[in-house]
Amino acid sequence: MRNANGQVVLATSNAGKVKEFQAILSGRGFDLRGLGEFPELSFPEEGDDYEANAIGKARAAALHVGMPALADDSGLEVDALDGIPGVYSARFGGEGLDDRGRTELLLERMSHLEGEDRRARFVCWVAYVVPGGGVLVSRGECPGRILTEPRGARGFGYDPIFGVEGTDLAMAELSAQEKNRISHRARALDALCERIAASQ
Ligand code: IMP
Repeated sequence: MRNANGQVVLATSNAGKVKEFQAILSGRGFDLRGLGEFPELSFPEEGDDYEANAIGKARAAALHVGMPALADDSGLEVDALDGIPGVYSARFGGEGLDDRGRTELLLERMSHLEGEDRRARFVCWVAYVVPGGGVLVSRGECPGRILTEPRGARGFGYDPIFGVEGTDLAMAELSAQEKNRISHRARALDALCERIAASQ
């Protein structure tokens, strides 16, 4: 299912994700092309289903560009809030908020919660679509807890308030290499690479 030259378009404009995809997939035989080369490309509206969203973005890019495409849909799920912000993580609190505003809003919503009630996980679905061909999908997750205040300056999104399971560290305190070893995106991409290899 891979082009002979390994070219794959990465269907995301999130700069944090682009860096992670590139680092996680480096040395695995992909020639990743960014969306910068295709400014006219637009994506379908996102719905409430991670898997369908990931496939929709990858399919739109593959059809438009005429080469295999990779996309993810990801989010942060808090158990005690019934999985919120979940698939709406990027839109949590409405259009007016940036990453910092969203983390502050989540901390505020969770100010009454302690201990086990702060349990959460990052989840990621990745989809690989070949134009006129197959679709491969996989999922990864990274367990942890929501901290009481932001820590660290690395990563993106909710990383400063996500305490990584089994450590005293926020995701934003990990090096890029450490995050890319344990993250939901790394786990989903590891599984996807196995599926792509098995399909050849
Ligand atoms: P989408 O997949 O582009 O719809 O948005 C995912 C949103 O979930 C991002 O905008 C972040 O807010 C959050 N998110 C996903 N992955 C991560 C991560 O690795 N660290 C921090 N936040 C993340």
